[in-house]
Amino acid sequence: MSTRVEVALGPRSYPVLVQTHCLPQLGATLRTHGLAQTNAFVLTNPDVAALYFSTLETSLKNAGFQRIVRHDIPASEEGKNWDVFSATCAALLEHFPDAGASPLVLLLGGGVVGDLGGFAAAVYRRGVPFVQIPTTLLAAVDSSVGGKVAVNFGGVKNIMGAFSQPRLVFCDLATLKTLSPRELRSGTAEIIKYGAVCSQSLFDDLEAGALEKLLAQNPETLVDIVARCVQLKANVVAQDEFDKLGIRNVLNFGHTIGHALELSAHYALTHGEAISIGMAAATRLALQLGLCDALFQTRLEALLLRAGLPLSYPGHPELFEPMLRALQLDKKFRNGKNLFVLPTAPGAWKQVEDIPWPLVHATMQEAIADKPGA
Ligand SMILES: NC(=O)c1ccc[n+]([C@@H]2O[C@H](COP(=O)([O-])OP(=O)(O)OC[C@H]3O[C@@H](n4cnc5c(N)ncnc54)[C@H](O)[C@@H]3O)[C@@H](O)[C@H]2O)c1
Ligand SMILES: [Zn+2]
Repeated sequence: MSTRVEVALGPRSYPVLVQTHCLPQLGATLRTHGLAQTNAFVLTNPDVAALYFSTLETSLKNAGFQRIVRHDIPASEEGKNWDVFSATCAALLEHFPDAGASPLVLLLGGGVVGDLGGFAAAVYRRGVPFVQIPTTLLAAVDSSVGGKVAVNFGGVKNIMGAFSQPRLVFCDLATLKTLSPRELRSGTAEIIKYGAVCSQSLFDDLEAGALEKLLAQNPETLVDIVARCVQLKANVVAQDEFDKLGIRNVLNFGHTIGHALELSAHYALTHGEAISIGMAAATRLALQLGLCDALFQTRLEALLLRAGLPLSYPGHPELFEPMLRALQLDKKFRNGKNLFVLPTAPGAWKQVEDIPWPLVHATMQEAIADKPGA
């Protein structure tokens, strides 16, 4: 089972291969996509490496790779920082000091490996080619595609980074079998996001039962839904690669309050859980501003609950101040004016500027109140 989605970016175009049980063919696939290097630098983490590194290594050796260096980073968001990034650059320099023998960088893991490793590949010698090999649902549908690579810094998420596109995204959805149920659910948050603001048909299909099939890892459903999400993201990225036109903002639905909460809760919530709470909050804002109707809110919240995702993080009112500080650093906010991506109907959205701060505050407080709705 396989699907191929093109990310059309002129000279930086690349395919996203969405398949199952394809990891043993990685090496051969790299060759058919014109990646002829004989050195590979594989960035991963100990947990993912224990499961998949040996298959990957064998596949690379069979395709003629001679030097394969594995470098591990910590297996959590806390490891997505400048020190770990710096150690990764140091490993690149230590193992591949010769400019004539630059490696192909392979990023085997979730969004943390992909974001940090993509950034290291983007800046090492002003850029060496890299391939994303996402092993989480979230990375498959979102972070491995689009070329945003970054690390967290100074308490701000993704503040140090670059735009740098991979040469190929190689996605083996059979690797999701070993993912924890919590991480699988977390990935569905981004999928529901695409349905909510980019595609009514995806939203309808998820509601009609695709969500449960996805959570049960039905292979046809997985390939279909992941490929559709990648296509939706590819369409957005192709129109606004460098996030200059406001088009790419759609992908930030749920991420304004979500990111602030993710950071303030010190990663007690996964990215997807925080985004789920952020989508519920943004939808409450939209409802109060008369941009969406109560039926949309009911449908979205029901879908998030069916995915096992939270709508709030009750009992944490102390997070209000840190969230507010984090919010002020949001890259969409300029000159004290806030800017939110709000849903209007399934598959549709609107960018809204300068929402009255008391309304924003009340919505945030509701997300973390002692009792939901208090
Ligand atoms: N660049 C972008 O456009 C973009 C988009 C969305 C999210 N992100 C970033 O992605 C990150 C979140 O990514 P994530 O949710 O993949 O988290 P993650 O990379 O931390 O992975 C989650 C956990 O799953 C484990 N894991 C990964 N694959 C596994 C597998 N197949 N089997 C068993 N365990 C496995 C990891 O070791 C880790 O503990 C955040 O830092 C977020 O900012 C980036
Ligand atoms: Zn996200």
